[in-house]
Order: sequence, then C-alpha cells, then structure tokens
Amino acid sequence: MKHDAVEKNVGLMIILIIVALSFGTLVELVPLLFAKETNEPIAGLKPLPALELEGRDIYIREGCNTCHSQMIRPLRAETERYGHYSVAGELVYDHPFLFGSKRTGPDLARVGQRYSDDWHRAHLYNPRDVVPESNMPAFPWLFEATLSGDKTGDKMAALRMVGVPYTDDDIAGAKAAVEGKQEIEALVAYLQQLGTLLQSRR
Ligand code: HEC
Repeated sequence: MKHDAVEKNVGLMIILIIVALSFGTLVELVPLLFAKETNEPIAGLKPLPALELEGRDIYIREGCNTCHSQMIRPLRAETERYGHYSVAGELVYDHPFLFGSKRTGPDLARVGQRYSDDWHRAHLYNPRDVVPESNMPAFPWLFEATLSGDKTGDKMAALRMVGVPYTDDDIAGAKAAVEGKQEIEALVAYLQQLGTLLQSRR
C-alpha cells in the first residue's frame, strides 16, 4: 500500500507533514491578510491624539497589560460583562497590540466612559480607596511626574511609517499638546477612549 511507504520513510513523512501544515496555514492566514474587515479601520477610528498616545506608553511602561487584557471574545459571558466583542478594524492603528494573555484584573477593551475621570484618578492613586477588596497595585507617582513631550512627535512619525495616518500638523503640535501635563492625565485620557467606538456594556 502507498500509505505503508509513507509510514516507513521518515524523510518522506516529514516533507508530507510540512506540506499538509503549510496548506492549513495558507488557508487560514492568506484570506485574513487580504480580508477587508481585518485591515480596514471601522467607521470613526482616528489615530490617538498626542496626550492619549503618551498615556498608552505609560500603560505599557507600568505593565498594565500584564494584568489586563484588551480583547473581548465573542462569547456571551464576555459580551454581557464587557460589551461588544473586539473587532480587528478598531485595532488597526494599535502598535503593538495590547491584547494581553492574562486577566488578573478585568478586560479593559471597553472601559472608556464606564467610570468618571475622578474615579480613575482615585483608583490609580490607591485602588483600595474605591474597590476595598482590590489587589491592584497603586500608582501614586503618576501624579507627580510630568511629560516633556520631547519625543511625542517622533513617536507619531514612527507610527506613520507603519501606516497610522498622522498628519504633519499632528506631529508639529504634539509637544505643545502634552508638555507639562501630568502622567496621570495622559493615562486617564487614554483609558477614557478605550473601545468607545463600539457599544459598551452601559
Ligand atoms: C497586579 C495586577 C494589576 C496591574 C499591574 C494593574 N491592575 Fe488594574 N486591576 C487589577 C485588578 C485585580 C482589578 C479589579 C479590582 C479593582 O477594580 O481594583 C483591576 C481593575 C482595574 C480597573 C477597573 C476595571 C473595571 O472594569 O472595573 C481599571 C480601569 C484598571 N484596573 C486600570 C489599570 C491600569 C491603568 C493599570 C496600569 C497603570 C493597572 N490597572 C495595573 C489588577 C491589576
């Protein structure tokens, strides 16, 4: 039998396995690379303004993404709790993605506008003040550090190279938009826009 020949010839089997696997990969991957809904921004999506962009970098620097995912799965338990599931088109300007792989805290993909700015400030200053049972760390230094904005324009220019449509005016005005602002302002501004283009839970 022909099958016998494959089973007894490791080299041939390896080659056939590679062919089979690459075929599977191609079938899964190639349509996604060209599908409109995975590459095109959803209606209303804009690149993050300067202050929110700095807020995003603070979010990464403080490791918020190690405890919080930003990826709501299309399952009822998730959408009832967090709101509309995440879609690729709302993430096309995200570099790097902040999907996260662990939820020590809740998913934050649609946390924007769910709480007031004051709530976020109190929560980030000391989570126990607003959520007594919380084990989230406090981030009091964000209230002292201010932003210089020296690199904000460069960050936007770099993002533009990978396809985020910042304009020359955005880049020219970046420093003025963030200079002297507290880090906490930038972080809260970033949180408050998260996921707001699609319907949230409340
Ligand atoms: C060690 C893990 C951990 C880290 C790091 C962490 N968090 Fe949390 N976070 C939690 C937990 C647990 C909760 C749930 C309890 C609470 O609300 O405080 C939470 C809750 C939240 C909530 C409320 C979400 C909701 O829907 O109620 C926000 C907003 C939040 N975190 C933002 C942040 C930000 C911003 C950072 C980074 C500056 C951060 N977290 C870092 C664990 C963490």
